[in-house]
Amino acid sequence: MREKMKITILENGPYLVEGNVPLAEKINVLQGRRLHRFIDGRPLPQAETYRLCRCGLSKTPPFCDGAHAHGDFDGTETASVKSYRERAKAVEGPELTMLDDGRCALSKFCHRQKGNAWTLTLTSNFEDCRDEAIHAACDCPTGRLTPLDQDGNEIENNYQPSIDIMQEPLVGVSGGIFVKGGIPLFSASGKIYETRNRYVLCRCGKSYNKPFCDGIHVSAGFLDQGRPEKAKRLFRKKNNV
Ligand code: FES
Repeated sequence: MREKMKITILENGPYLVEGNVPLAEKINVLQGRRLHRFIDGRPLPQAETYRLCRCGLSKTPPFCDGAHAHGDFDGTETASVKSYRERAKAVEGPELTMLDDGRCALSKFCHRQKGNAWTLTLTSNFEDCRDEAIHAACDCPTGRLTPLDQDGNEIENNYQPSIDIMQEPLVGVSGGIFVKGGIPLFSASGKIYETRNRYVLCRCGKSYNKPFCDGIHVSAGFLDQGRPEKAKRLFRKKNNV
């Protein structure tokens, strides 16, 4: 079944998802003062094929309801099709190197108790800092950061192919579309982007790096039908706060 999984961008329209890709909602919450983690959100319907909204205007998010045809959505793809290795810069630490391509969804998983992914990489001669640097890099949904061990091997989480609709109640907005497990992504013109273990697609319609999320949903105050408020309530109920 895995070989049938793919995402195709439709011109000025939604993401067409094929191959029975599992779909879930995940809510970004804090554990302690700085550690971010995802908890389950509402159940979403599963289907062999579905269309995810890319313009941010749908009344039935995360699915497309055709609203893109009536707004002023410009879905032009502006992201580079160069490979991650071609785009990324390296941060060299004593026990770890971290690649960074600058794509940020403002989800803050790169921040840990002892520092952020960059400072932790620079102090990776301490075992706890090395472990934390790996978490900080690998837990980032965008795939921006990739740790390399001393032999140059990439360290990655083992994700099964699936899609998570992100909610960001800590900043009061809805987030992007977290694609996991190496699902191929085709542009509206038919070219294929580099297939990666993790990436985040824009669903507010405003990214300057379409189809990828650039974090602009935060300053744009993107809300999909008030979900972050519901997410916040769910989190408080679950955690008794
Ligand atoms: S892409 Fe169709 S409603 Fe948003």
